[in-house]
Amino acid sequence: MKRSARFFVSTGLATGTLIAGVVVAGAALGAAPDSGGGLRAAFATPQDVAEGKRVAEASCASCHTLNGVAKAKDKDMPNIAGQRPGYLYNELRVYQVGGRGNTPMNNAVKFLSDDALVKVSAYYANQDPAQPVAVSSAKGGSAKPDPLSAGKAAASGCAGCHGENGISSTPGMPNLVGLDPKYLVDAVKAYKAGQRKHDMMKTLVSAVTDAELDNIALFYALQKPAKAKTPSPGNQTKGKSAAVACSGCHGEGGASTGTAPSLAGQDAQYFIEAMKAYKDGSRSDAAMKAPAASVDDGAIKDLAAFYANQTPQAPKVRKPLTTDEMAQRCDRCHGVGGNSTDPHSPALAAQRPEYLERVMRAYQKGERRSTAMSAMLDGLSEADVGALAAHYARQKARAVVYVPLPSK
Ligand code: HEC
Ligand code: HEC
Ligand code: HEC
Ligand code: HEC
Repeated sequence: MKRSARFFVSTGLATGTLIAGVVVAGAALGAAPDSGGGLRAAFATPQDVAEGKRVAEASCASCHTLNGVAKAKDKDMPNIAGQRPGYLYNELRVYQVGGRGNTPMNNAVKFLSDDALVKVSAYYANQDPAQPVAVSSAKGGSAKPDPLSAGKAAASGCAGCHGENGISSTPGMPNLVGLDPKYLVDAVKAYKAGQRKHDMMKTLVSAVTDAELDNIALFYALQKPAKAKTPSPGNQTKGKSAAVACSGCHGEGGASTGTAPSLAGQDAQYFIEAMKAYKDGSRSDAAMKAPAASVDDGAIKDLAAFYANQTPQAPKVRKPLTTDEMAQRCDRCHGVGGNSTDPHSPALAAQRPEYLERVMRAYQKGERRSTAMSAMLDGLSEADVGALAAHYARQKARAVVYVPLPSK
């Protein structure tokens, strides 16, 4: 019992009763089945820990090892050393009633008394936690790069024609700023597939991957919108009257809120060419067929001038969170760097990445039930889950802190 000395360090208390963490009785987190509301206090005396060790030797060590750090080859086995004692105890109760599915754990704890569960929890909580694990990016565990900087980098080849930040200064080159990312992605895919015929654009975007394209679209959507810096001859007042027929789809002033692209601030020459392409059928779109047929060349020029001079609006897009930003939200419950300070909340720091990933998927699929966790993981992609698992596996784990109780 190399750690038992810790119980008496600086306490000077004869009783030696200590409580892990700060909160003990009546904590609401994950109350065990039939615990009658309050959990049994997760306190431990050195004698409890010694008895817990005997339980561990007999019933747990064959799988978890006696020090609670899983063997390197057992990729699926969680580390339980240094895990928060209230959490350990609670999970053991959950396994007893089969609440985490049919795992080898059910049989391991089925016939253990409540007393044995308390003591074995105290024992493993008192072991030195595992060392952090560096997960190589080859396993998909790399932190998600900031999509915005990734998009900016991928869009560097587009700037020569579409302008810095997607604000065109070359007549005939469309503004890309102010476009909804979905429209931009669909447009590029249409060039790639040849549905939208433009040999030059087809060649230019042929090597852009779907992931790069998503980042590019996000990058342009999050730039401050501005009008194209290109000439727009034509009568804006006439254009304004003609645009009444277009605003139902393209929005007031060309700032669209629906599926039709925004036209506000668009380069006039590109606008004119697009309208002509709809007219002669070289660009085909069911929604644009009739509107394009209804306007002559003069009206098109006026419409182009009107829209080119409207102020573009930023599409409603939120910047997705980076892995670090996501983890900050998790740390609210799991402690800074995954080092929980609540004995009933699991520490995540230095946990096995394979295990973390697997249990997060289990929460997402509803196989492991926790209202807090399914809400937190809702909508996270597989890549997010992998990145979070790698993030926590890398964190340095801190041991359970024991707080001395004044003797009665
Ligand atoms: C036959 C092998 C085996 C034995 C014996 C065993 N375990 Fe486990 N244990 C596992 C496996 C596998 C898992 C992961 C199961 C899962 O994902 O739910 C696990 C999970 C756990 C967890 C959940 C960890 C977490 O972070 O949620 C705890 C706690 C635990 N074991 C404690 C114990 C204790 C204490 C004993 C002895 C009383 C014990 N186990 C005996 C195989 C075993
Ligand atoms: C050599 C100049 C050039 C380069 C480089 C270029 N484009 Fe284009 N792009 C054009 C032209 C010209 C058009 C108009 C084609 C048409 O009439 O359909 C266009 C059209 C588009 C459109 C359709 C806009 C709309 O409003 O429908 C998108 C989206 C687009 N480009 C994205 C990109 C992206 C992303 C890149 C970089 C990966 C890129 N372009 C690189 C010249 C270029
Ligand atoms: C019924 C809805 C609807 C109406 C009405 C409509 N549009 Fe469109 N418009 C669309 C859709 C959808 C697209 C995108 C089609 C595509 O992907 O080629 C579009 C595309 C365009 C484009 C190409 C934009 C770009 O970035 O490439 C221009 C220019 C345009 N519309 C102008 C007009 C004008 C001018 C009018 C009025 C005379 C008008 N539209 C009326 C739905 C509409
Ligand atoms: C509102 C509090 C809260 C937040 C926020 C939260 N969690 Fe949890 N988490 C919990 C609780 C409570 C449990 C234990 C639930 C149970 O008994 O299954 C848990 C369990 C877990 C487990 C299982 C640990 C183990 O050892 O088996 C993982 C992994 C986890 N959370 C990851 C995360 C991640 C990643 C985030 C952020 C995306 C997050 N949590 C956010 C409260 C929270």
